[in-house]
Amino acid sequence: MSNPPTVVSLGLAGGQGKSTVALMLGRYLGRLGIPVLFVDCDPQSSLTSFLGVQVQPHTPTLLEVLTQPEEKTKIIDAIASVPDVKLGDRTISNTNLFLIPSDDGLESANYKLASSGLSLFILRNRLQPIVSNFGVAIVDPPPERSHLAQTSLGAGDKWVIPAESNVKGVQSLLRTMELIKEFKAALPYGELLGVVPFRARWTGLHPTNATKTSIDTMRELVADELMLPHILESDVFKNAINQRVAPTDLGQPNLEYAIHVLAQRLKPALSAEYAKLIPAEPV
Ligand SMILES: Nc1ncnc2c1ncn2[C@@H]1O[C@H](COP(=O)(O)OP(=O)(O)O)[C@@H](O)[C@H]1O
Ligand SMILES: [Mg+2]
Repeated sequence: MSNPPTVVSLGLAGGQGKSTVALMLGRYLGRLGIPVLFVDCDPQSSLTSFLGVQVQPHTPTLLEVLTQPEEKTKIIDAIASVPDVKLGDRTISNTNLFLIPSDDGLESANYKLASSGLSLFILRNRLQPIVSNFGVAIVDPPPERSHLAQTSLGAGDKWVIPAESNVKGVQSLLRTMELIKEFKAALPYGELLGVVPFRARWTGLHPTNATKTSIDTMRELVADELMLPHILESDVFKNAINQRVAPTDLGQPNLEYAIHVLAQRLKPALSAEYAKLIPAEPV
């Protein structure tokens, strides 16, 4: 049987929605009953903090996973459970969510990866023995063109590119497409699931000019069918992230529409057992 897919949220700039899309996709799949392994590949550790995981002293993080062999650091020892969250009088269960966390020490993995000459494949190879315990793995890379970004790219079977709905977002998308092009020949298993315009601004029924222009430009840069629905600019998203839940938990599943469509795209790559947990239509 083939391994579960590894999804990577790619983007060569900060603030593009990489961590948000990784987080919300994982939360959605976890809520449906699919075991998710998150991998925080960014030394800024947004995903680790969004998930409320505290790195314990003397416990390996992604740094040890990437820089030491399995004999020295067992990858299984680096996997943390994501704690459940209290929301008012409810408990939001995170029993299906797991994380290989990062902290700021992860930056130093770049040197080791550079000297290995194998950056592209190190994370993929390290995940290989354990990924079959999960329904999907989701990697959150750093925003710049580093060796950590390369190893994230190479770990991916499915890439998703969130890009802010503005000029900076278009530039980030361009650079990210170039990165993929550069390494595509070495990564025949990698496939782009789609582009998610992030923080789209609407007034009433219409997108703002900046949003419309940037999304139109993105559509010209990638094939039409690769454009996914946008994520609206919304404080509900920010609040959900801060409260360690999803917009759905705050009564706003409609805000997660782009995530539901993304999950549909991912469905054929999941094992039959987990694919059947994803609703037939995005809700
Ligand atoms: N729908 C949204 N509307 C407005 N802000 C958002 C939304 N979703 C997330 N954010 C905020 O945008 C910021 C950047 O997103 P993030 O996913 O961390 O980007 P990246 O990982 O690409 O650097 C985060 O601080 C987050 O709180
Ligand atoms: Mg991030």
